[in-house]
Amino acid sequence: MIVDSLDILRRRRSAKWRAYPDDVLPLFVAEMDVPLAPAVADVLRAAVEASDTGYSAAGPELGAAVAGFAGRRWGWEVDPGRVTPVADVGVGVVELLRVLTRAGDAVVISPPVYPPFFHWAAEAGAQLREVPLTKDLRLDLAGLESAFAARPAVYVLCNPHNPVGRVHSRDELAALVTLASRYGVTIVSDEIHGPLVLPGATFTPFLSLPGAAEVGVSLVSASKAFNLAGLKCAAVVEGNRPLTASFPPDVRWRTGHFGLLATVAAFTHGDEWLDGLLGFLDERRTHLDELLHTQMPWISWRPPQATYLAWLDCRAGDADGEPAELFLERGRVALEPGLKFGAAGVGHVRLNFGTSGAILEEAVTRMARAVR
Ligand SMILES: Cc1ncc(COP(=O)(O)O)c(C=O)c1O
Repeated sequence: MIVDSLDILRRRRSAKWRAYPDDVLPLFVAEMDVPLAPAVADVLRAAVEASDTGYSAAGPELGAAVAGFAGRRWGWEVDPGRVTPVADVGVGVVELLRVLTRAGDAVVISPPVYPPFFHWAAEAGAQLREVPLTKDLRLDLAGLESAFAARPAVYVLCNPHNPVGRVHSRDELAALVTLASRYGVTIVSDEIHGPLVLPGATFTPFLSLPGAAEVGVSLVSASKAFNLAGLKCAAVVEGNRPLTASFPPDVRWRTGHFGLLATVAAFTHGDEWLDGLLGFLDERRTHLDELLHTQMPWISWRPPQATYLAWLDCRAGDADGEPAELFLERGRVALEPGLKFGAAGVGHVRLNFGTSGAILEEAVTRMARAVR
């Protein structure tokens, strides 16, 4: 389920393995140390064998694969005709914002949140408004109601929420549907981490809620759960309002052919592999809790309900400076600095535990040594 040899991992040429020198353990960007799911490897291998490296084709396969996966795993009935491929989730959100906003319209987000959320509104010519999560890292529904009363065009929801790992509850999402309907706000739901909901939590796809199709549009992807980020494919799932028909015609050519092939294979034949991965990540989550408890008990965190990303509050430590810098400079462990996720991230780091037990243990040991 995991590649545990650093020598083998360092042969990878992706961002995770090329951003830092070899003495650094890279636990920053959201890539996992897994080997590809066999169904995905097979389809890619066959494409290479056939020199099948042209443009992605606009066929019905992606819609059928997304609908099958959503139905089996979440009981969410997706109309395959409402599924549109895009190059990645970021491209999908920006193109949706271009359709949904006019110059000067506001787009609301809830930090701490995945850093590109801060840039997407500007790319589409819109203004950003922040309604941070509450202290216990939930959606601030009262704050969102105040913000929605000023009639922003869009709220970009992170469901489940990176970096805090929260799986928003059905009731919270239903309240969001009510607010969006009341104030005429469109909800763009980024559900890239939906397939990574861990044992103990239940994922509610936004569009599966009553009334959500009138106010929402979602983005799904196999790229986080199956480690396919470099292949460039995600899917927009529309509600009742046609939006992708207004995308510029060239958007259709920007999806990666390998990404689309891999996504269809993952969503069609990847359930068993994904179940194994979720079991593995559940173990790593417990393992990390034990390691932090014994080596750095002053770090506080809520083990995430989804993802392989841990949001660590290091403010109780007496170390000077930003913790990510300290862990990198003295410990040679690369983590994401909390401030990248917004002002609420001060004193925090985000750690990627999608790695072997041995690497995780070594990383935490180095981190503890760095602050001693
Ligand atoms: C919430 C969220 N959205 C989007 C992305 C990036 O997705 P893509 O590479 O498909 O743009 C990530 C990557 O980690 C993410 O965490």
